Amino acid sequence: MRAFESAALILRRGRPADAVALSSLINHYARQGGMLPRTPADIREHCGDFLVAEANGEILGCGALKAYIRGLAEVRSLCTAPEAARRGVGRALLQRLVEEASHRGFKTLFALTVVPQFFARCGFREVHRLALPLKIWRDCLHCPKLFRCDERAMVLELTPRSSQPDETPAEARQPSPSLRW
Ligand SMILES: CC(C)(COP(=O)(O)OP(=O)(O)OC[C@H]1O[C@@H](n2cnc3c(N)ncnc32)[C@H](O)[C@@H]1OP(=O)(O)O)[C@@H](O)C(=O)NCCC(=O)NCCS
Repeated sequence: MRAFESAALILRRGRPADAVALSSLINHYARQGGMLPRTPADIREHCGDFLVAEANGEILGCGALKAYIRGLAEVRSLCTAPEAARRGVGRALLQRLVEEASHRGFKTLFALTVVPQFFARCGFREVHRLALPLKIWRDCLHCPKLFRCDERAMVLELTPRSSQPDETPAEARQPSPSLRW
């Protein structure tokens, strides 16, 4: 992957053509035990759930929302390419996912993560894992760390937004001003 020193970051919706690259990025971290793996086929099927960070046509990160019951949604598969780490990509993705979750009427957003510090820097607070509904643990059955889980539960209570959907296409919106490029 090339350097992106002065490139503008674009946040856009995932596309089927991203599936292999996103799977490769996510599985890079999954092999280190920080995320659940995702296959290209799985991502292709759910590509509309993905937000992709891109600069100069190169994918720098991604993240997705998963809806649960009673106004609850999960931030999942959130990651930044190693070459772009600590330059605001993760925060930009998370901020946009928070906005999207608010617009969609979710009341609480949560993440299960081995990097609670990142989520805390982005306004989330830690809760006991058992404070979350049992339903969310279904994916854990496929996790190699099932009986030695080190993930922490982070939540953000969302401020209700207008029920009108944001008509601005994801591609056309400006990146977060907190980006460090
Ligand atoms: C966690 C991750 C998404 C952060 O992405 P990033 O683009 O490097 O993060 P940002 O540059 O946007 O950082 C935002 C803030 O979080 C802090 N932060 C980021 N990663 C951190 C870490 N590992 N530990 C402590 N703080 C961290 C940054 O210093 C920054 O703080 P600031 O408020 O002082 O500016 C990225 O490290 C990653 O992909 N990790 C592996 C996958 C993973 O664990 N994802 C989360 C599971 S859902």
